[in-house]
Amino acid sequence: MEYFTTTSKPSRRAVDCAIVGVYARGTLGAGARDINTASRGELQRLIKSGDISSRPGRCAMLSGLPGVKAKRVAVVGLGKKSDFGATQLRKAVAAATQAISQTKAKKVLNCLTLESVARTNTYYRARHSVEAIGDTLYQFHQMKSGRKPPTSPLRTIGLAIAKRGDAGVTMRGAEHGDAIVTGASLARDLGNLPPNVCTPSYLARTARKLASGNGRLTTNVLNEAEMKRLGMGSLLSVTAGTVEPAKLIVMKYKGAGSEKPVVLVGKGVTFDAGGISLKPGPGMDEMKYDMCGAASVIGAMATVAQLKLPINLNVVVPTVENLPSGTATRPGDIVKSMSGQTIEVLNTDAEGRLILCDALTYSKRFKPAAIIDVATLTGACVIALGAHRCAVMSNNDKLRNELVAAGDKACDLAWPMPHDPEYAEQLKSNFADMANVGGPGGGAVTAGCFLGKFTDGMTWAHMDIAGTAWKGGAKKGATGRPVPLLSEMLLARSSALP
Ligand code: BES
Ligand code: MN
Ligand code: ZN
Repeated sequence: MEYFTTTSKPSRRAVDCAIVGVYARGTLGAGARDINTASRGELQRLIKSGDISSRPGRCAMLSGLPGVKAKRVAVVGLGKKSDFGATQLRKAVAAATQAISQTKAKKVLNCLTLESVARTNTYYRARHSVEAIGDTLYQFHQMKSGRKPPTSPLRTIGLAIAKRGDAGVTMRGAEHGDAIVTGASLARDLGNLPPNVCTPSYLARTARKLASGNGRLTTNVLNEAEMKRLGMGSLLSVTAGTVEPAKLIVMKYKGAGSEKPVVLVGKGVTFDAGGISLKPGPGMDEMKYDMCGAASVIGAMATVAQLKLPINLNVVVPTVENLPSGTATRPGDIVKSMSGQTIEVLNTDAEGRLILCDALTYSKRFKPAAIIDVATLTGACVIALGAHRCAVMSNNDKLRNELVAAGDKACDLAWPMPHDPEYAEQLKSNFADMANVGGPGGGAVTAGCFLGKFTDGMTWAHMDIAGTAWKGGAKKGATGRPVPLLSEMLLARSSALP
């Protein structure tokens, strides 16, 4: 995608489509005001006749407006002016993009960057716009044979600005938004691929490909024998039931000399059948998404690499398949983790924590400035927070607040969960140092507490993305979350935000 900025009046630019908006009660947005004047009141007439709606999500596609150089004008509903924030901006741009993608428009001018948007600035208006366009244009039809549905020819995005002085931060917002779309789209592709294609080896190949030809990025992949030598008995217990080889993927991006790295650890269960504690059949296909933590941290790495951020970032992905078989781990088995702590596996379906704990212990060698694991860890998190916010737990209040704040900025919301030591008592085992499940109450929290036992000496946070990483139902598909949140945090730490 190419981007440009312009201070010229929306009606004066010869583009294939201009995007403008109207607020509730017929209040015209900045771009719409100009288009309305140039067309001698055409927009106001169409509002009166009901052909243009101010309702969020609605879009009227007008063509050949008199006095307007744009071939088409997409007029989107912006809702109540007093409610217009970043989320509403993103929804409006998405609605316009959806309508534009049905046309042959190649070059569009987004005039919604001229609106005043609560709690944002010029930079975020550009970035959110570009992210919303990229999110909407995303398609996944790699696995369909025959004729693929047409892809939108949209190639150039103009961002309207009020004054020349806004050009720099607007282009920076576009550049960052573009890179976040790259990362989120990669995460979505990996999530959406079927589990017979997106195996641990496939994730490893993807990570290697990302690093090839990039001087700042290296990928190293550990095999099962190497993991065994490191004592990763917990991780390896999860892969015991499958013939698909497990991997530990380690990516290192060096953009800031000898600074301590941020380390992102992503759960990479490429299919979670539950193991011997087999899951029920209906909806089990969705457990192909159990590697979305891995996909999001690899996606965040792609974003950082595209932007060449001045930061050090390591990505660690423990990746396995969790299947039942005659060689699978049994409920009751006791395994020894790389940390030396023993674990009684009471439920083989609580496998995410079993692979993450060894990846966390492994990561201690990097002396992380901060370490954040991202995982589709518990159904309990979906019960607690639903699909709108992921859960954040941490042994450090500052890091937890940093992540929640990054989510707010990025429109990729998170919410804090408690991390009191009392919860960890639920993990007591009569036979080993701990059990891998904590009983029925507070399942998302006890899962986090389990991981916390492997983070001594590190500033650590855990993000449970079980409710946000993908959508079910008719619109089944990966969301690419929390790539925007992670990117925001890494951009802030790189001092790359205006
Ligand atoms: N991958 C699942 C968690 C999950 C379930 C994510 C449904 C999204 C939707 C995880 O491995 C799992 O099975 N967790 C168990 C833990 C339990 C056995 C303590 C769960 O949540 O039921
Ligand atoms: Mn499971
Ligand atoms: Zn799982």
